[in-house]
Amino acid sequence: MGSKLILIPLLALIPVTLSYSGGAPEAVCEDMTPKHPNPPQPPKTFPYKVSVSENEIKSGGRTQITISGDGYKGFLLQVRDGDKPVGSFQIPDDHRYAKTINCSGKRNAATHKNSATKKELTLDWTAPRGSKGKDYVIYVTVATDGEVYWARQPTETIKVA
Ligand SMILES: *[C@@H]1O[C@H](CO)[C@@H](O)[C@H](O)[C@H]1NC(C)=O
Repeated sequence: MGSKLILIPLLALIPVTLSYSGGAPEAVCEDMTPKHPNPPQPPKTFPYKVSVSENEIKSGGRTQITISGDGYKGFLLQVRDGDKPVGSFQIPDDHRYAKTINCSGKRNAATHKNSATKKELTLDWTAPRGSKGKDYVIYVTVATDGEVYWARQPTETIKVA
């Protein structure tokens, strides 16, 4: 009896410290903001770098997106047309650090698979077919750990020519 009373508050703490250790859930697809108790860090202080191998690709073409920096545990990555995630990520099932999730579209978001510290991660992304003339923006949420994170940060652009 007594032990039950002690267990409940302890269990309530677990989601806070291990927030999304297995990746962002689909529930945060839209606002890309973790449901952590801490607010996001100010966008201007974003310390990570997002780069693309090619800023201009063909409709249905592929490019590589890299998130690098001083170490991060979690991320959510989307390429957006306005506020809609588009295209798809190609991540093998046995990838050590990353996996795809379906944000009302097949594999159109990428997230971490575990809370290992990552310093540089490169992922393949394919533009949708019939997207000629579109300009997309890469958005990321990056979490240094369960407490410090930057949410829905607009970064590089990808032009479909
Ligand atoms: C996402 O969509 C793919 C392709 O339809 C499917 O194989 C996969 O199981 C889906 N993933 C989840 C988590 O629903």
